[in-house]
Amino acid sequence: MSLSGKNILIAVSGGIAAYKIHFLIRDFVKKGASVQVIMSPDAEHFVTKLSLSTLSKNPVYSEFYSDNGTWNSHVEMALWADVMIFAPCTSNTLAKMVHGICDNLMIATYMSAKCPVFIAPAMDLDMYQHPSTKLNLELAEDFGHIVIPAENGELASGLVGQGRMAEPETISNTIADFFTDNKKSLHGKKILITAGPTYEAIDPVRFIGNHSSGKMGFYLAEKAAKRGAEVTLISGPSSLNTKHENIQLHRVTSAKEMYSKVFEFYENADIAIASAAVADYAPKEIASEKIKKNDETLTIELIKNPDILKTMGEKKTHQFLVGFALETQNEEENALAKLHKKNLDMIVLNSLRDEGAGFQKDTNHIRIFTENDRFEFDLKSKEEVADDILNQIETLILK
Ligand code: PMT
Repeated sequence: MSLSGKNILIAVSGGIAAYKIHFLIRDFVKKGASVQVIMSPDAEHFVTKLSLSTLSKNPVYSEFYSDNGTWNSHVEMALWADVMIFAPCTSNTLAKMVHGICDNLMIATYMSAKCPVFIAPAMDLDMYQHPSTKLNLELAEDFGHIVIPAENGELASGLVGQGRMAEPETISNTIADFFTDNKKSLHGKKILITAGPTYEAIDPVRFIGNHSSGKMGFYLAEKAAKRGAEVTLISGPSSLNTKHENIQLHRVTSAKEMYSKVFEFYENADIAIASAAVADYAPKEIASEKIKKNDETLTIELIKNPDILKTMGEKKTHQFLVGFALETQNEEENALAKLHKKNLDMIVLNSLRDEGAGFQKDTNHIRIFTENDRFEFDLKSKEEVADDILNQIETLILK
């Protein structure tokens, strides 16, 4: 992960976790970032300006004025930063931030900053649990700041619980991820994504369904939206939700409903990704009343559902079309057959024979096939898999 060319402003407040900032600076510098540090006056009890400026290769300020009578411009530092991170952020500094109590250089700089702000709180466990801290963190999130939650463990007081500042590596990875996610590489693209299962009604209380949770599709939608795409997400029944302003979520139940919704948006889409586990068959008749268990056996006649992806392939004009293949045997052969039969540009294969892949889990193990290429990936979180898929689409679109 690279932070090359990024300007990172670290705001250090007075807490014991300030000692970890040396490691954080080193990590940022290793990733290629330029770093400046500002401190609250109290932070100087915990770390020295000398050590922080040596590592960051920049002067470190805590006061509005330097000893030689010059003004330390909070505005200049604020505008220099591509991102500002409060680490550690004490309850006092947090309260000042969200209520605009601008009584030190660090808060004045914060209030002049236009860049994204991250907060890594660190405090004793009762302070962390206090309603005022919770409220202030919520306010900070309402401002659009990103809170990197405190971790569990032994605290300086000797108590054990949540309150330890996140590890420097976690903080620097979160910020590196943020820049990757926000590269806006899909700005101006309209992406249609199907997700989740479909439920095919048997009677008013029963249905035929499958184990899809929607996670894979929702992560694809979130990641595409973060890259600036305008996303239409059509999901079968799923407990998941999304608040991203670039995602228009439509909930459907059956394959037929998904089909109708998809073709309201397909024509205008630039990219379509079918990650839904659509039922291939549905009961021919839906009983109007609950079916009684009168007989030893029950036969339900099923009829084929429309193949949404295949129809998308047939109607394809300019769209880049991506399908999934969920297989249990002859994986590669079946995936390639679907690539051709459904007129796809790319297919993502996941096999239920692979540990950690497929339904419901937070991980997936995928292979990607196009007409001429194949790409192998390790087992990863579905969030990372979504990035891999989008990276691959971007590479192919830009070819
Ligand atoms: O939701 P999760 O719990 O995170 O699980 C993710 C997933 C396993 C559901 C996902 O990664 C996945 O593999 N989705 C596709 C599942 C599937 O139905 O595969 P398939 O091989 O049966 O279908 C091939 C393709 O045709 C798929 O893109 C499917 O969306 C599409 N299809 C299938 C049938 C149909 N009637 N209409 C379709 O559009």
